[in-house]
Amino acid sequence: MTTHWLCEYELGHPEIDRDHRALIEVLAILSMGYCDRDLVDTQVKILERYVIDHFEHEESLMRQGGFPELAHHLDLHAQFRADVKRMRAEWVAGENPDLQAEIAAELSHWLINHIQGADRAYIPWILKT
Ligand SMILES: [Fe+2]
Ligand SMILES: [Fe+2]
Repeated sequence: MTTHWLCEYELGHPEIDRDHRALIEVLAILSMGYCDRDLVDTQVKILERYVIDHFEHEESLMRQGGFPELAHHLDLHAQFRADVKRMRAEWVAGENPDLQAEIAAELSHWLINHIQGADRAYIPWILKT
């Protein structure tokens, strides 16, 4: 299953929307199931970098905006970071070439739910700062 960005995922904050779109696009590439190890390695590294940068950005905006559910949101981010790390470890172990595509599809499903639920909830708080 490949997931693409849809306009309905936009939250009305241009920087956050741009970050989300980039993350979904990298996951869409990974979920296509390339067998080229170098390409996948590069995309996984890009994904890890984007995830770290985006979460830091989001967490700093939530702090500035006084978002009351910050602690719970931090837990959700930690869980996702761990899942990305797991994907990388399983891909490096290399036992199942289709695994990275399956995990990327799972991650993009998780991320879209996260954007539509948990991220949408903090938007009013960061827009008022
Ligand atoms: Fe986000
Ligand atoms: Fe988030």
